[in-house]
Amino acid sequence: MAKVIKLIEKLEADHFLTKEEFHLLIKDISDADLLYLRERACIASRKYFSNKIYIRGLIEFTNYCKNDCFYCGIRRSNHNVLRYRLSKEDILQCAQTGYSLGFRTFVLQGGEDSYYTDDYIVDLIKSLKDQYPDCAITLSIGEKSYDSYRRFFEAGADRYLLRHETANEEHYQKIHPPQLSIQNRKQCLWNLKEIGYQVGAGIMIGSPYQTVENLVEDLLFLKDLSPHMVGIGPFIPHHQTPFAKEASGSLRQTLLLLSIIRLMLPGVLLPATTALGSIHPEGREMGILSGANVVMPNLSPTSVRKKYELYDNKICTGDEAAECRYCLEGRLNRIGYQLTVDRGDHKPII
Ligand code: 5AD
Ligand code: FES
Repeated sequence: MAKVIKLIEKLEADHFLTKEEFHLLIKDISDADLLYLRERACIASRKYFSNKIYIRGLIEFTNYCKNDCFYCGIRRSNHNVLRYRLSKEDILQCAQTGYSLGFRTFVLQGGEDSYYTDDYIVDLIKSLKDQYPDCAITLSIGEKSYDSYRRFFEAGADRYLLRHETANEEHYQKIHPPQLSIQNRKQCLWNLKEIGYQVGAGIMIGSPYQTVENLVEDLLFLKDLSPHMVGIGPFIPHHQTPFAKEASGSLRQTLLLLSIIRLMLPGVLLPATTALGSIHPEGREMGILSGANVVMPNLSPTSVRKKYELYDNKICTGDEAAECRYCLEGRLNRIGYQLTVDRGDHKPII
């Protein structure tokens, strides 16, 4: 359809579309036009990043969580989860393994777990920075106060990942318990930006009740926030959650949104996520070929990996850090890309 091609070209030139145009693009794109869109997104990504893909080492340090998000396998009400917490020594050990494998960014991710007080996190960041001054520290530990975010930043944290999950209030309430609000979520993201973090927002594709209108609202919110990173992957049901019987998000829709985001925010750091690799054996490769430029293999000890199951059939839960790192390198090489040993900071596009 010529109309859709025109929209793709407009998006590529202006990095933006109107609400109506985004709606049309998401709803009406044919398979052939999607191929073209993915190609344009891939070219945009190569223009800024060449064939280099950044790696981030993910350390899932606690699966305790005080929240009860309806989609998440480690939600508070899931009493079947074997809960674990990594000690400071465990975390430093993961970082050491990661460092020797060439990782220069560590992502500390966990449920919202008050066992790790602000003082604990500050001490952890300082120790990591002390031992690995050439590495970036990314936090992904949920909603905190402005003051806590500021303290972590002053201790040396560089980046913060906090997916907004959906920008639409009504949709947000359908997938979260009443204690959580989109207003607070968005405020946290604005606070993080103001403090000076490189910030990552993002959504799940195909989460229950998600509409095309919701996706358009997400795109408009992302454009407004202009984050340094955008984490998107398909929703995948977890059998011990209220959404156990819901369908997964599709590969097609995930690739479509990855490509749109690459063209809308050309310099953004965009991971091909583990969830994408979990719905298709070559999901991450297809993500890269749709404009993604980051991979985030797991550095958590194998003994705890299966316990950090946000969704069913998560890949790599039995693999050692080194296995994942070399597996990913091979996968990227086969499609013409290279892993980069580099902090991989966001660079503004002139
Ligand atoms: N399927 C896919 N992604 C999920 N997440 C949480 N639960 C699921 C699920 N069932 C994502 C959320 C969260 C991130 C850490 O993992 O978007 O922000
Ligand atoms: Fe973990 Fe391939 S990335 S085994």
